[in-house]
Order: sequence, then structure tokens, then C-alpha cells
Amino acid sequence: MSFLRFIVAIFFLVSINFGVSNAHYKLNPTFYDCTCPNVINIVRDVMEQIQRRDVRAGAKIIRLHFHDCFVNGCDGSILLDNATGIISEKDANPNVGAGGFAIVDEIKTALENECPGVVSCVDILALASEIGVILAGGPSWQVPLGRRDSLTANKSGANSDIPSPTETLAVMIPQFTRKGMDLTDLVALSGAHTFGRARCRTFNQRLFNFSGSGRPDPTIDSNYLKTLQRLCPQGGNGGTFANLDKSTPDEFDNYYFTNLKNHQGLLQTDQELFSTSGSSTISIVTNYANNQHKFFDDFVCSMIKLGNISPLTGTNGEIRKDCKRIN
Ligand code: HEM
Ligand SMILES: *[C@@H]1O[C@H](CO)[C@@H](O)[C@H](O)[C@H]1NC(C)=O
Ligand SMILES: *[C@@H]1O[C@H](CO)[C@@H](O)[C@H](O)[C@H]1NC(C)=O
Ligand SMILES: *[C@@H]1O[C@H](CO)[C@@H](O)[C@H](O)[C@H]1NC(C)=O
Repeated sequence: MSFLRFIVAIFFLVSINFGVSNAHYKLNPTFYDCTCPNVINIVRDVMEQIQRRDVRAGAKIIRLHFHDCFVNGCDGSILLDNATGIISEKDANPNVGAGGFAIVDEIKTALENECPGVVSCVDILALASEIGVILAGGPSWQVPLGRRDSLTANKSGANSDIPSPTETLAVMIPQFTRKGMDLTDLVALSGAHTFGRARCRTFNQRLFNFSGSGRPDPTIDSNYLKTLQRLCPQGGNGGTFANLDKSTPDEFDNYYFTNLKNHQGLLQTDQELFSTSGSSTISIVTNYANNQHKFFDDFVCSMIKLGNISPLTGTNGEIRKDCKRIN
């Protein structure tokens, strides 16, 4: 056999082996079909009940899913409380005040009643995110499943890897690309700010003295600025809530992008997607504002990509019995 053919043969063997091991560990929407066939209905029932008393249920859950996946991959690490050897990510700056943990516990209890020890907490985040989007009028998709829960948390990773709302686009883009997410993913996923709330303290740096300029952020529309200044006065309560989408605060639609075009984005990082001159994010925003189908299609692809960030699979990690602590 010639040297070249030998090399080709080795290459084939190696790629076949890779193919087999990857196939074994690939997430799959049918993962629980035999072990917990009712999983989707159970998650949907609980989400529907909670949504009736808390319109933000879906928003809270999808945010947790994002903050989980950006720290050591999608592994449920964000759900762990302090314990011996575990410093909870819940105390990391981006997670302070985050809701949704009780919702995860309620879903977990329902699943443990039906199929104990089978469905991971991280898969609950992925599934409940999709259901929350549907319940708010957004797209549906088949959620790849089979992730396992971490045995550790990474609070310092949460502080460094989750983008801050006062960041420039130039800082935020590499935070996404380091996780394998491109500009389209960044803009499409930011569209999750089509529902939910943000507290004044996360955007009030824009309202009176932006970057020490003595003036408000010039990219805010003047009427919207007045509304926000009234809601969040200087020296006021930073804990007051504002709608992330001023037009349709609880609907999953593309008005978020129309708001950005109208200079009515809430967070600095929202408005920057449209107002950073020369940025290639501008045309993506315009495209989504004009075409909700395109936004929904891209959002689904980006959510699947988000949910695929370094999951624990196979025999790594565990299936937690209680999402707040390791077994
Ligand atoms: C692009 C960078 C992002 C930044 C800087 C950012 C920042 C923020 C901030 C500051 C808040 C308000 C938090 C508070 O008041 O404590 C928030 C809320 C929210 N974020 Fe993001 N976010 C980003 C991307 C995302 C992504 C990718 C998703 C999901 C796919 C998401 C989903 C949400 C949702 C749904 C809420 C509302 C949650 C609620 O009502 O409780 N965000 N985000
Ligand atoms: C977790 O432990 C840290 C450090 O000891 C502490 O500052 C924090 O308040 C604890 N968090 C909770 C929720 O108990
Ligand atoms: C925590 O996250 C940081 C930032 O991504 C990473 O460099 C570090 O290795 C992580 N630590 C652990 C123990 O996983
Ligand atoms: C705005 O902030 C800068 C820097 O923090 C400060 O020097 C300046 O006095 C502030 N201006 C006003 C009008 O408050």
C-alpha cells in the first residue's frame, strides 16, 4: 500500500471512530421517548399553570437557560445553591435578582413523580424555554435532549462570561464568539428581550449622565427618554421594573427590533445592535423588524445552537434528584 493510501485509510478509521462516538453523545429530541415519554406534556402542563399567575414565567426560564449555557456549557450549574465545595452562581452579578428557580423546582417535582431520576435539570431549562416561547406567541421547535447535570458551579465564570448590559458591542461580540455564537446568533437571541422586564439599575446609566458626558445616551428617542427618566429618577429605586419591549411587553414577536429602529431599545446593549455605526448587526436588526418569519427561523436555529454549548452527556455529570444540590 502506498504511503498516501495508508494515510487515507488512517484518516477514514479516525473519522469513523469520531462519527460513532459523536453519534452516541449527540443530543436528540427523542432522548426520553422510552424512559419518560410524557416529558413534554408534563413540562407544558406545569408551565401553563405557572404562566397563569406569572406572565414572566417563560422570560425568567429562557434567561436562566442562557446564563447556564454561557458558564461551563449547558449543565444546570446555575441552579446549584451554596454547599461544601460549591460557590453558587446565583450570587454572581448577572444572576442577582434572577427569577425562575422555583419554577424549575416545580417542574422537577412533577417529573420526579412520573419518571424518577430520569430527566436532567438542564434539559428542564431547555424544554421549558421552548414552551415559554410558544405560550407567549413565539415559534416552536424540537428541543434536542440528553444533557446531564453538573457536579460543580463556577461563580467567577458567571461574572466573566455573561455579558453586562453596559458593555459596548465591541466587548460583547467576542463574549459570544468565544461560545461559538456568531453575529446572527447575537442579534437573534437578543430578540428574547421581546418579553420580560429589566430593573432600572441595569439601564439607568443611560438616562442622565451617560459615560460622564453630562447628557443622556444620545441614541435614546426623546419621548422614550422622558418616560424612562420618570420611571427611574436619579437617586431613585434601582429595583423598579421596566418592560424590555415597550410595544408588546409580554408577546414573543419582532417588535423588539422595530423598537431598536425607533431608538426605543431599553438596555444599552440592545440599542447598540442598531446604533453602532458601521456595525453589520444593523442590517440583521432591520431584516428582523421587517420579517417576523425570518426572525423566528433564525431564533430557533440560534436557540438550538445555544443549547448545544458543551453539554455533559453519556456518563459525565449526573441526573440530579433536586436541581438545587448534587445527589
Ligand atoms: C446579548 C447580551 C445580553 C445582555 C447584556 C442581557 C442583559 C439583560 C439584563 C440586564 C436583563 C434585566 C435583568 C435584571 O433586571 O436584573 C435581562 C433580562 C432578560 N434577558 Fe437578557 N441579556 C442578553 C442576552 C439575552 C439572551 C441571549 C437571552 C435569551 C435567549 C436573554 C433573555 C432575557 C429575558 C427573557 C429577560 C427578562 C427576564 C425576566 O423578566 O425576568 N437575554 N437581560
Ligand atoms: C453563598 O456563599 C457566599 C460566600 O460564602 C455568600 O456570600 C452568599 O451569600 C451565599 N449565598 C447564599 C444564597 O446563601
Ligand atoms: C470557570 O469559568 C472560567 C471562564 O470561562 C474558566 O476559565 C474556568 O476554567 C472555569 N472554572 C472551572 C473550574 O470550570
Ligand atoms: C457626569 O459624570 C462625570 C464623571 O462621572 C462628572 O464629572 C460630572 O460632574 C457629571 N455631570 C453631571 C451633570 O452630573
